[in-house]
Amino acid sequence: MNPERIKASCIAYYNQMHEQYLEDYRDELSKKPYDKDFLLRFIENIPFKGSVLDIGCGAAAQQARFLLSSGLKVTSIDLSEKCIETAKKNFTGIDFLRMDMTEMDFADESFDGIIAFYSIIHVPDEKLGTLFRRLNKILRINGKIAISVHAGNFYGYHNAGEMAVFYRTYTPEELTGHLSGHGFKIVEINQRKPICDFEFQSERIYLIAEKIKGLPAVEHKKHQVNL
Ligand SMILES: C[S@@+](CC[C@H](N)C(=O)[O-])C[C@H]1O[C@@H](n2cnc3c(N)ncnc32)[C@H](O)[C@@H]1O
Repeated sequence: MNPERIKASCIAYYNQMHEQYLEDYRDELSKKPYDKDFLLRFIENIPFKGSVLDIGCGAAAQQARFLLSSGLKVTSIDLSEKCIETAKKNFTGIDFLRMDMTEMDFADESFDGIIAFYSIIHVPDEKLGTLFRRLNKILRINGKIAISVHAGNFYGYHNAGEMAVFYRTYTPEELTGHLSGHGFKIVEINQRKPICDFEFQSERIYLIAEKIKGLPAVEHKKHQVNL
C-alpha cells in the first residue's frame, strides 16, 4: 500500500468529519471511566506542571483537555488542518499544531510525557520505525508514553460513505515489540472490550511505557569524495 495515499486518505477523511467529531467526542470521556483511570495513572507519573504531547488530538481534543485540567502544559498535534482549526476555535490553553507524527521536529527530550489515543492506528508499517524513533527522541529519559489502539489483525481501508480511510489494528505483541525495540520498557498493558452502546465494536489495547534509554543516531551514508 502506498504510504502517501494512506496519508492523503486520513487528511481527507478527518477534514470532512471534523465537525461531526467535535459533536460526537466533545464529552465522550465523561462516559469512559476506564479511559479516565488510565489517563490518571499516566498523569501520576508526570511531574507537576510537566509538559505533555498529545498526538492525533482530533477536533474534540478530549484527552488533551483532561490533561490540561490536571495542571499539565499540553501541546497537541494533528495531521488534519480542519481538526486543528476546530480545536483551536473551541478550546483554549492548549498549544495546537498541525503536524504529521511521522515527521515531528520537536527538540530532543522536550516532553515529560506523550499520549497517543487511537491515532497510531493510521500509520502504515513503512512509517512505524521512524515514528517510534521520533517518540524516543522527543521524550525525556524516564518519561512515560500512553498509547491506546484497536486490537486485532486488520490492515487496510475502511469504507466510510464515499470515503475510504486507512486504519490498522495491533496485537499486544506487535505494539510491545515496537516499544521494546526503541528504548522503552513496558509499564502496563491491558485490553478491554468495547463499551456496547456507543463505541466502535472492537477490543482495545491500553499501554503505558517508560523511556529507559536513547537511541544511537542513524548513520546516513556519505558520498565518497576522492581528493
Ligand atoms: C480516531 S481519531 C482520535 C482522536 C482523539 N485522540 C480521540 O481519541 O478522540 C485519530 C486522529 O489522528 C489523526 N492522525 C492520523 N494520522 C496522523 C498523523 N500521521 N499525524 C498526526 N495525526 C494523525 C487524525 O487526523 C485524527 O484526528
